[in-house]
Amino acid sequence: MNLESIKARITELRKLISYHNYRYYVLDDPEISDAEYDALYAELKELEEKYPQFFDPNSPTQKIGGPPLKEFSPFTHSLPMYSLDNGFSLKDVADFIARVKKHLPAEELEFWLEPKLDGLAVEIVYEQGQFKQGGTRGDGLVGEDVSSNLKTIKNLPLNLFPPYPAYLEVRGEVILNKKDFEHLNTEQLKKGEKPFANPRNAAAGSLRQLDPKITARRPLFFYAYGVGKVEPSSFEGKTQEELISKLKNLGLPTVPLGKKVKTLQEIESFYLELQKQRNSLPFEIDGVVIKVNSLAQQKLLGFTAKSPRFALALKFPAKQGITTLKDVLFQVGRTGVITPVALLEPLSLGGVVVSRATLHNESEIKAKDLKIGDKVLVQRAGDVIPEVVRPLKEERTGEEKEIIFPENCPVCGSKLQKSAQEVAIRCENISCPARLEASLIHFVSKKGLDIEGLGKKWIPLLMEKGLLQTPADIFRLQKEELIKLPRMGEKSASNLLQAIKRAKEKLTLDKLIYALGIRHVGEQTAKILSSHFKDLDALSQASKEELIQLKDIGPEVARSIVEFFSLKENQNLLQDLKNLGLWPQAKKETAEQNLPLTGKTFIFTGKLKSLSRAQARAKVETLGGRVVSAISSQVDFVVVGEDPGSKLAKARKLGLNIISETEFLKLIS
Ligand code: IVH
Repeated sequence: MNLESIKARITELRKLISYHNYRYYVLDDPEISDAEYDALYAELKELEEKYPQFFDPNSPTQKIGGPPLKEFSPFTHSLPMYSLDNGFSLKDVADFIARVKKHLPAEELEFWLEPKLDGLAVEIVYEQGQFKQGGTRGDGLVGEDVSSNLKTIKNLPLNLFPPYPAYLEVRGEVILNKKDFEHLNTEQLKKGEKPFANPRNAAAGSLRQLDPKITARRPLFFYAYGVGKVEPSSFEGKTQEELISKLKNLGLPTVPLGKKVKTLQEIESFYLELQKQRNSLPFEIDGVVIKVNSLAQQKLLGFTAKSPRFALALKFPAKQGITTLKDVLFQVGRTGVITPVALLEPLSLGGVVVSRATLHNESEIKAKDLKIGDKVLVQRAGDVIPEVVRPLKEERTGEEKEIIFPENCPVCGSKLQKSAQEVAIRCENISCPARLEASLIHFVSKKGLDIEGLGKKWIPLLMEKGLLQTPADIFRLQKEELIKLPRMGEKSASNLLQAIKRAKEKLTLDKLIYALGIRHVGEQTAKILSSHFKDLDALSQASKEELIQLKDIGPEVARSIVEFFSLKENQNLLQDLKNLGLWPQAKKETAEQNLPLTGKTFIFTGKLKSLSRAQARAKVETLGGRVVSAISSQVDFVVVGEDPGSKLAKARKLGLNIISETEFLKLIS
């Protein structure tokens, strides 16, 4: 290849890669596979390294971050970057509309609505469609030049699609998605570094890194919501809506979910709808931005000293707040794990009063360096339980007290154990009343026996009165005993007994397995177990080796299952449940049921002559059977090939059905 054609290929590759970046990061609709993309990228990188004379600062390869900076240089905005006035209620929106109308009497109004992204405002300059530089908002007049970092943002194009305006300042928000934020914070804690308070903070911290390579590793995204100076200014079009669509045509990602409306009612429904969606969106939003749609009207309305008169941010109720950590309580869970719980001075977060928050475990408390009496930042992310983000150390008075973990169970007093493998501290006394209470609540919970009306409300009282000690006792409750309880009338007693009866009738094996509360056995694992064992007897006799054979069951889960059934108390419970008729049998899928080997378990030992082990396994599985590698009484057929191993002797000992390869072939034919 001559230099000319090399240069042409480099240009072509840059175009192709930019286009595929756009498909992937902006449209979320890739046209080629990751492998094909990687190949294009590798080819470009190699050519650029070989022929440095064709270097281009806007090549897609420059998205990985250049050399570190000593400090950021100032970035002056050619037009000031205003911030928005905030509104907190519909009344504030009505007032805003009234103000607009006062300035523009007799004009027809339309509004452009968008979610308010909770990130960091930036401005990016493109000259002749090429990324030139970009900076943060700063004080609105001068920000910091974070060009090298902005270039690493995955969905930000370095070259715009033509036809582009000669000069464009695009404005928007740089954000970090919630899941990436969680991940980043886990990493921060692991490294012993301070977690970020929220995605906005993390995005800001990531964008203001002096080393662009660090920024490049953070999954930042950019979404445009407007422009600064544009030449020619006719590019902007007539409305906010049109402007956004023009930015989109240049290949720029724009704030999603925008909508044009006319009335206050429509603004209200958009706000309510968005608030409903808030938790399920991938990024944090903190309200709705309302803008007068017509750009001509925007110009007429103009700005006050700090904000535009044509726009308003209607905020959602805050999900973060500051309060005092009054004390720490130690709760005993059903598996005996001791969980520290923060008792907080009550505060309202996102419309809910919060007075408790989980602190997870001791190492988390250490990592966050919390003390009793601290002022703390608390948040409710999504629907989840509130959490303490961090203490405000700068507000400490010296009166704060260390959080001391108890040495003994706060309920039964037995010595707490800390295992080497895990951070948790636990009460190992399985008769600890706190553990029993939590286990019973778990037993009757929705995903377990699903006994309506029992649970937190009655279980503690029933235990206190000596009516409940094990889950089996639930099915021995009598009406005469129940009506003696305070606040329990004739009617509620009947209802409760009805609910218990119903739960018993519709009980399935997977629900019962889940309800037992075996450590590490959640809903999913319970389902897997129930599809492999015919009842609790079969499950309780399974060995660790046998359990590990099952899909998604690792050594830890297997160990905990075996341990659970080895305890005398649990064996008694099983016997009790059986006597009470709480003994569901596994339901086989109907499709599977019709297969010839459904429910049959095979094991192979020795070499097969006519087919490989993998082929034999596949054959068994397509016929509905399963193949295990550990011998046990659950095995139906032991297939013996040439030179069998020790399994054969064990099979004989267990009195299993031993068959030859020929017999096996007959069986599967
Ligand atoms: S429009 C003239 N639209 O909110 C002001 N801003 O509190 C134009 N923001 O500094 C701003 N999402 O960083 C606009 N869809 C959106 C926004 C948005 C987030 C930020 C922006 C601004 C801040 C004001």
